[in-house]
Amino acid sequence: MCGIIGVISKNDEKKLATITVQCLERLEYRGYDSVGVASMEGNELEVRKAKGRIDEVVKRLNILSMTGRVFLGHTRWATHGEPNDINAHPHTDCTNSIAVVHNGTIKNFRELREDLESLGHKFKSETDTEVIPHLVEEFKKRGMDSFSAFKSAINSIQGSYAVLAIIKGENKIYFAKKDNPLIIGLGDKMNFISSDIPSFLPYTNKVLILIDGDVGYITPDEIYIENEGKKVNVLDRIKIITWDASAASKEGYAHYMLKEIHESPRAVDDTISGLISDIEDVKNAIKILEESKRIIIIAAGTSYHAGLYFSLLLQREGFNAIPVIASEYYNIKTNQEDSILAISQSGETYDVMMALKEFKANGSKIISLTNVIDSAIARQSDVKLYTRAGPEIGVAATKTFTSQIAALQFLYSLIKGDDYTYLNKAKDVIRRSLDFEGEAKLIGEELSAKSNAYYLGRGLSLPFAMEGALKIKEITYLHAEAYAAGESKHGPIALVEKDFPVVFINLGELVGELQNNVQEMKARKAKTYAISVNERLNTDKEILLTVEDERLSPFAVTPIIQLIAYYSAVKRGNDPDKPRNLAKTVTVG
Ligand code: AGP
Repeated sequence: MCGIIGVISKNDEKKLATITVQCLERLEYRGYDSVGVASMEGNELEVRKAKGRIDEVVKRLNILSMTGRVFLGHTRWATHGEPNDINAHPHTDCTNSIAVVHNGTIKNFRELREDLESLGHKFKSETDTEVIPHLVEEFKKRGMDSFSAFKSAINSIQGSYAVLAIIKGENKIYFAKKDNPLIIGLGDKMNFISSDIPSFLPYTNKVLILIDGDVGYITPDEIYIENEGKKVNVLDRIKIITWDASAASKEGYAHYMLKEIHESPRAVDDTISGLISDIEDVKNAIKILEESKRIIIIAAGTSYHAGLYFSLLLQREGFNAIPVIASEYYNIKTNQEDSILAISQSGETYDVMMALKEFKANGSKIISLTNVIDSAIARQSDVKLYTRAGPEIGVAATKTFTSQIAALQFLYSLIKGDDYTYLNKAKDVIRRSLDFEGEAKLIGEELSAKSNAYYLGRGLSLPFAMEGALKIKEITYLHAEAYAAGESKHGPIALVEKDFPVVFINLGELVGELQNNVQEMKARKAKTYAISVNERLNTDKEILLTVEDERLSPFAVTPIIQLIAYYSAVKRGNDPDKPRNLAKTVTVG
């Protein structure tokens, strides 16, 4: 994972350290095990880095006092080497003249490290990244100019990378990209290069999204890119971003997660109108889905739950729709008659990428649904569809899940030949649910005092029960498990004793069966909760939501399961935006 940023300015910019740190803060969702900054002033290259969160490390190491016209920054999610001060990026060569930050994984780093050590290079960290500055050093030693040495280093590594490098005395940031995101921001006498757009959006909305194989450098007034040895016409690739920087700030909410839950009505609405404006792509996607023998839906985590919901809708229409957890893709052999639907908020998830590579090689047609425009997964696809939730900073997916449900339901309505305009009311349904925030808070706070919980659902409710349990685990660190309500009798009920919390998700179908399950739990003295649509289950505590059209039930239930998790995490004193051991974007397998 990891977030990387490079900032380069024409002027002797006193505030460059502050700007770099602000960019890093906006990248912290990508990992927060350690932080580091490199700055270069004239011929002086300085690195300050340590384990810990950005605000704390920045204060402790007085990073804001660093000066220079060239800065690199890194926020880490550890893959190779434990999170500590030494493994924090930037990494340097033997002479501390080359500093590198990297997002990705270098598969052949052990062999490269052995070779470099046999040539006398001294390594300081356990990371895969450190081979890069030593490789550049080695190639320079052999007489190459800096850019050639950097390119040779990149050609030597295998794996995935977004890499930035600075070299003592050079007013340049070298970069290379493969499989991990890297975007250039073109500012006024100041240029940026980063893992995402929101990080530098307060300074410029003029961007250039790098593609795999791009290698080059930026200076304060020049962008140079090569791909497969050929110079790229930079002007052709510049885009203007229309979202503003406030879309990536908290705007008075205590946490991004809460702000993003409250943004769901807008996110869902933008998603539907975006799909309507991309209707030709939507039609192409539907044609592919309808003509294929099997529809394989691959995704991870929350996106998998959205995919599972879609698969149930399709199965009920007689389609052979198979939801597959992306990291388990090897269990399924696809061919030209299959279509693949890849769902991913980030559009970068490694497991989804790996599955796509394999399925594509088998000749299957690929449709993607991502939130990040032009994401790596989108670029692998025959048809690219987007949710338009805007940037999501909280690690827990909220508005993007609701938007995925909206997008998939839009597709489903078109497949069925139904009128999709009922989806215009989804935003009002979400708003009405958000009025139950106080009730959701009370349930969340009760759950926060427990150590286990069950989330049960039947039929279409099950993916939402699974999502509710995942949210709780992710940010509250409470062990919550979801089951098909009927299946709960086949083992899980053995754990139920007095006051064991059982949360029922009731989308308004199979209500009689769910009511029976409630009675079974009550008979074991469980503490029962329900989030119900239109009809009560008569649990100990119940939030009853109403919708005119039952197809809108998911939009009623989703904000409540998210708010319950949010308030239970807050009550426990956890930071819901940065849950332990997690990162927003999982670009490792
Ligand atoms: C959601 O709250 C989680 N952070 C996680 O399960 C996430 O949904 C998963 O990693 C998939 O991410 P993607 O949608 O970006 O592919």
